[in-house]
Amino acid sequence: MTFRYSNSVPKVNDNATAEIMKAAANPEVISFAGGLPAPELFPVKQMKEATDKVFDLYGEKVLQYAGTLGYPGLREQIVDIMKDRDVDSTVENIAVSTGSQQAIDLVARMLINPGDVVITEDPTYLAAIDVFKSYGAKMVGVPMDEDGIKTDALEAVIKEYPEAKFIYTIPNFQNPTGRTMAVERRKELVRIANEADLPVVEDDPYGAIRYAGEFLPSLKHFDTEDRVVYLSSFSKVLAPGMRLGWIVANREFMAKFMLLKQNADLHTDNLTQYIVSQFLKDNDLKEHIKTITDAYEHRANLMLKEIDEQFPKNVKHSIPEGGMFIWVEVPGVDTNKLFDECLKHNVAFVPGSAFYANDVKQGTFRMNFSNMTDEKIVEGVKRMSAAIEAVTK
Ligand SMILES: Cc1ncc(COP(=O)(O)O)c(C=O)c1O
Repeated sequence: MTFRYSNSVPKVNDNATAEIMKAAANPEVISFAGGLPAPELFPVKQMKEATDKVFDLYGEKVLQYAGTLGYPGLREQIVDIMKDRDVDSTVENIAVSTGSQQAIDLVARMLINPGDVVITEDPTYLAAIDVFKSYGAKMVGVPMDEDGIKTDALEAVIKEYPEAKFIYTIPNFQNPTGRTMAVERRKELVRIANEADLPVVEDDPYGAIRYAGEFLPSLKHFDTEDRVVYLSSFSKVLAPGMRLGWIVANREFMAKFMLLKQNADLHTDNLTQYIVSQFLKDNDLKEHIKTITDAYEHRANLMLKEIDEQFPKNVKHSIPEGGMFIWVEVPGVDTNKLFDECLKHNVAFVPGSAFYANDVKQGTFRMNFSNMTDEKIVEGVKRMSAAIEAVTK
């Protein structure tokens, strides 16, 4: 049988990243390539207690089909979480998604027709690039600096592509760069979007994982015209395997979102929604997040110190204030070649080329520190230094 696949299926040869992840999964390899939260910090005991309680309290109800937008009890709790993020919302503005990844997919499906332009930071989250491309989007990247997307460059891009469909941005501890958008840029981005009448998709899975600097209001906070569609997730603050994310948008948008969500999976896992809701009632989420941020702060600082001490002096890197990633620039080095050399030294990262939708900026790569012991951070950076020396000598 020869299947005639749709254009949504990524071309196998495009999937260099899957090959990288496969190579990095070898147990001999110290892998800074992944993007996994620290599993030893998952609240296993508390989730078990919450699960027992949910079955005792609600029985068969939680095993039944349920509403498409999600369990109202959990959505009420998300309203409170959003309040802590300086965003006023109501249950009607919120839907629970199967991870924020599903919300990215459904929002893309809602907005993109083949050939439409989507504006993103350059570089950006590679699974968002894949989704947007799968709907036939033409991706246009906007350069960043240490303060996030360059808003003057964004304005120029919008001038060139006034018909663009939306702006996709990750303002906090961006994947892959670890950078955070400065507050003035946030205001400016919303102003530019208002002027151009463009929707903004704000993807914020990492914002709560801040271990340095001060809290910054989201783009949604500055949104006076209901144009920001805000996405977040329990993946990084509780457990990604539970696959719970959420979307905050205005009611008209939510009504359309519901139609596509229904087509996709009727609703997100009802049992899991009840369990997380129970967990949030019986535990202090902020305290749990503090445990995570303390651990990540330590790992990030250790990795930065090792990079500063061991990598060549011309190497530049981001200094994240939260999240899980450091972005490294090694001028003049082909980081795909460096990846091959690193594998010989049993260490891995993700070459920057994976995160650029169009023109790749050479000499860049992403390192993850969240899922790593101190010993592996020290040893892995040492191995990488040897590999950098081998490719640059
Ligand atoms: C920027 C960004 N958005 C969305 C996601 C998807 O997260 P989830 O579907 O687990 O909520 C990730 C996962 O790593 C991410 O880095």
